[in-house]
Parts: sequence; structure tokens; C-alpha cells
Amino acid sequence: MSAATATGRAHGKVILLGEHAVVYGRPALAAGIDRGARATSLVAATAPAALSTLTLAGRTIPANATSQDDLSRAFAALLAPPDGSAPPAQPVVVEASSDLPPGGGLGSSAALAVAIARAIEGLVATSVSEPRVAARATAWERIFHGNPSGIDTTAAARGGCLRFTRGAGAVPVTRARDLTLCIGWSGASSSTRAMVDGVALLREREPERVNEAFDAIAGLVEDAIAALDAGDLRALGERMDQNQTLLRGLGVSTEAIERLCEAARGAGAFGAKLTGAGGGGSVLALVPSLDEERERGAMHPTATAILEAWRRDGLDGFVTRVARA
Ligand code: PMV
Repeated sequence: MSAATATGRAHGKVILLGEHAVVYGRPALAAGIDRGARATSLVAATAPAALSTLTLAGRTIPANATSQDDLSRAFAALLAPPDGSAPPAQPVVVEASSDLPPGGGLGSSAALAVAIARAIEGLVATSVSEPRVAARATAWERIFHGNPSGIDTTAAARGGCLRFTRGAGAVPVTRARDLTLCIGWSGASSSTRAMVDGVALLREREPERVNEAFDAIAGLVEDAIAALDAGDLRALGERMDQNQTLLRGLGVSTEAIERLCEAARGAGAFGAKLTGAGGGGSVLALVPSLDEERERGAMHPTATAILEAWRRDGLDGFVTRVARA
């Protein structure tokens, strides 16, 4: 082992446009946000044969590849991923935490995976290799999601705004300014695996309609990138609204998601849509940038109005920022 303790951090993520279609090779626009996950690791003062442990949300679990517990198997997979990255030579003790709601569409699982993978790499290697971090995080994500596109772990690791294509990876999007987003919680967590499976089933039944929707989403992603490059947030918001309509057609929206989107638009959002797998989880609403609102002499009044509208409806939210990559 090369260090006695190590730490790792990672971003939560939002998908600005393109979820679900990205599983089928279409591009998506993702961003790392300023909330996320962190982990610390140290070499355990136990016998070399003891199991490594992970403490998360007050629960301590062993790394066990044959456990019934997904978290226990995911931790084991991260420690010894199939690409052959070195497992720690001695058992390790990892503590991790996240300020993202699990099942909330904000990439909580991927942020934890990347933070833990970085803390492990810091312990076993002389320098943290991002490809090895990605291999470890992907091994973890496969336990939970079955068929992950990789968008969550990429955004968690890199932050900023990224154009992501499955297999081809991520390219940072150059844009005129930072983005300010309101994130609203639908009140229900959802399973990414179940939602992805549901869309796969719909695609088997109605291939033409579903593939057309994916192509339309891909077009919106390219338009959105052009809008970002031009600094045109209104045009970006319009594309987000159109993406939401297509996601509704894929059966992944819910009544609470629609209510959050409507309330946000009514309170002045440029656009609003679900983010992540849908079926619950979170909504994101694009608001004028912090700088613009400050120029008008207030601390983002649009964001405040949106959060108040959500609260009146019994739904919770927060404001976050996507910093330049
Ligand atoms: O629910 P989340 O935040 O894990 O986002 C999943 C995004 C999907 O496109 C639905 C699945 C994927 O692997 O890309």
C-alpha cells in the first residue's frame, strides 16, 4: 500500500437533456453540480484475512461478492473490478457520505462510487488514475443499474457541463457562463434499473415511435449545446421543455414531476424537466444566471419564487450551480 489514509470527492449530476435516449447511443448533456459525495479510506488494523468495510449512512457493511446485499456486492466489485485494477493488499476501512437524496435522479450512487474509488486509488496507488477510478465506479454501478450508460459516473468524476455519448465518452461544453438551477424533489425515490427496463419494454412493443422519440431528443441535445455556446438560456430552457414532453411520451414522468415543472415555469423558469430516470426523483428548472439576477439587485428572485411555489405545493427543493468545466 502506498498511503495509510486517503480521501476522495465527487459531484452529484443532473442530466440537462438526453436521459434514456443516451442508453441507446444518442448524445446527452450532463453536468456535475456543487453538491456531491466524499469518502475517506484507511488501512484496517485487523488481520490480513479480514473483510474490508464500508460505513455509509450509519450502516457498516463488509465487502462480499456473494452477499444478498447490493451495497456489500457493489463495494466488493469496486475493490476488485473486472478490468484487473489492484485490490488493496490489506483490508481497508472506508467511510462515505453524500448530500444527495438516494434514488433522487441526482447520481447519488455514482457520486459515492467515484468518491470511494478515488479514496481507494489514493490508498493502493502512487497516483490516482482516472481510468482506474472509472473502472472501479462502473463495477459498482453495474450492481445497482444493470445497464448503466456511464453518464452518471463521468459527470460525477469531471463536473462542469459535458456532452456524453455511450462508448465515446464525454466532451466538455464550452459555454458563455455558469448555470443556476433549481432542483425540486418529487417526494418519491425511483429505481433507475426499473425505469430503464420499462423503456426497453416499450421500445420492444413500439420500436418506431420510441426510436423516433430518441432521435428527436438527440436533436434537442445538439440545439441545447448550440444555445449554451451562444449563451442563450431561453433557447436552452425551451429545449428542456420539449425534452420533458418527449419523456412524458416514454412513460417516465409522474403527476408530481408535471406539477413541479408547471409551477417552475409559472414562477419564471426558462424551462423545466425531470432529470435522471424519472418515475419520481427530481426535476430541474433553469433560471437566469446568478450574475444576471445580482445585476438586477436581488439574490436570484426567480429561484426564490420557484422554491416558494414548490413549497406551497408541499414539495421541497434547493438551488445549485454548474460551474464552468
Ligand atoms: O436516475 P439516474 O440519476 O441514475 O440517471 C439515469 C440516466 C438514464 O439515462 C435513465 C440511465 C443511464 O444509465 O444513462
